[in-house]
Amino acid sequence: MLIRRARIDDAEDISKLCAELNVTRSSSARTGFVEHAPSPEEFRRRIIGNPLFFTAYEHHELAGFVAAYRDDRMPEEDITKALDTKERPFVYCELLGVKEGYRGLGKILVQYLFDHSRGPYWSATVCAPRRNRPAEALLRLTGWKPEQKVESDGLTFQFYRHE
Ligand SMILES: CC(C)(COP(=O)(O)OP(=O)(O)OC[C@H]1O[C@@H](n2cnc3c(N)ncnc32)[C@H](O)[C@@H]1OP(=O)(O)O)[C@@H](O)C(=O)NCCC(=O)NCCS
Repeated sequence: MLIRRARIDDAEDISKLCAELNVTRSSSARTGFVEHAPSPEEFRRRIIGNPLFFTAYEHHELAGFVAAYRDDRMPEEDITKALDTKERPFVYCELLGVKEGYRGLGKILVQYLFDHSRGPYWSATVCAPRRNRPAEALLRLTGWKPEQKVESDGLTFQFYRHE
């Protein structure tokens, strides 16, 4: 397994995996990004000059990725406005995706982010109308603490913080 900084030409693979891991808000799937699938072009923008976007490849297959951002280059998402009032600097861990068959990689990617940046960290996961229990378990296991909940576009997000 090769974990390294994302490159611009990883964007297609990342967008594809992100689409694969998407679920609708009414889905009964156990885990998944809820109706959130940035295009390859959008991922290219998020990767360029970003030292906190990492990918994990196994035999040229994208096995997982973690997309995080410093507070001065946050992705333009409604939900990130909730962090406008937080003390800076911070790192926002937005997306963590692991391809089916690579379970166990999630905690390795979170640790990789911690090893290559300095906190505090923020993250958020959808908790209603559906809960993402694997994501919640992973965040708990890696030491994140739940903070406020925020509504956006009919979804409730639970924010987490890690020192
Ligand atoms: C959430 C996700 C990243 C977890 O990745 P992962 O590689 O399975 O995570 P890990 O195995 O390292 O998880 C650590 C802990 O989380 C829990 N966990 C992970 N997957 C689980 C599952 N499918 N069911 C129950 N618990 C699970 C376990 O407690 C696990 O610890 P253990 O291995 O010691 O039992 C992955 O399921 C995923 O990509 N989901 C789709 C995208 C998504 O929803 N991302 C999160 C929001 S950004």
